[in-house]
Order: sequence, then C-alpha cells, then structure tokens
Amino acid sequence: MSELVRFSVSLESPLLGAFDRLIEGKGYATRSEAIRDLLREQLLRERSQRARGEQVAVVSLVYDHHERRLADRLMDRQHHHHRLVVSTMHVHLGPHHCLEVTVLRGPAHQIRQLGDKLIATKGVLHGEIRFTAGEQELSRLHSAEHHQE
Ligand code: NI
Repeated sequence: MSELVRFSVSLESPLLGAFDRLIEGKGYATRSEAIRDLLREQLLRERSQRARGEQVAVVSLVYDHHERRLADRLMDRQHHHHRLVVSTMHVHLGPHHCLEVTVLRGPAHQIRQLGDKLIATKGVLHGEIRFTAGEQELSRLHSAEHHQE
C-alpha cells in the first residue's frame, strides 16, 4: 500500500483560476483528483511508448470518403497487421467525411509504426494516436488510490 504524500505547488492566480474553471467543468470534486489524472495521463503516455510488453493505443482517422480507394488502402494496411488490430469503429460524419477509430494492441514500436502509417496514408485529413497502457501498468498506477478512498 502506498503512503499518501502532500506537497504544495506555487502558481500564478490566473493560471489556478483557469485550472479551477476547467476541472469544475469536467466535474472533478477536488483539485487533487484532477492533478492525479493529469499526472497519470502524462506518465502513461510517456512510459507506454517506450515500455516493453503489450501496450494499447487508440488511433483516430478522419478522411473524405470520396477520396479514391482510400478506405480500401486503410483496410489493406490493417489486414496486413491484423494481429495488432483489436477493433475498428467507423462513423459516417456527414455526406463526405468518415471518422475511423481503431484500437491497437501489441508491442509499442509496432503500434507506433502502424499508427503512423495509417495517419500518413494519402487522403487522411486528420489523425491522432493516443497510447494508454496495458493491464499491468494500469494496475500498478491505480493500486495506491484504491486504499485512499
Ligand atoms: Ni463513412
């Protein structure tokens, strides 16, 4: 069980005011909980991109579905790396544009390679890859909190 540590932070009052408004809008009950989430997010993102073992990431792609053969090219690339692809959700945003969200699972460098390749596919208008973490890492970061509530 981890010990709960208190520390103080100095920052400019406008920055704190903006932070308080942000976290109130997001529904956080306390600054502590909001700061824990921010720290976890940064740590997970940094670590999981370099960590060994199984990692998980979400890749989102926005593209024009009239772009010639683009959907086929994206599908081909996913089939080629089918062991990394857990699932894909396709959303028709409107008459022209599609949003595709894919969950990838596997070694970090392979996830990164495939994610980059999908985002770089000609015709993709916007793409993003967000690493979360595998079960092991999440359990480690969360175990401390379960004892504090
Ligand atoms: Ni569509």
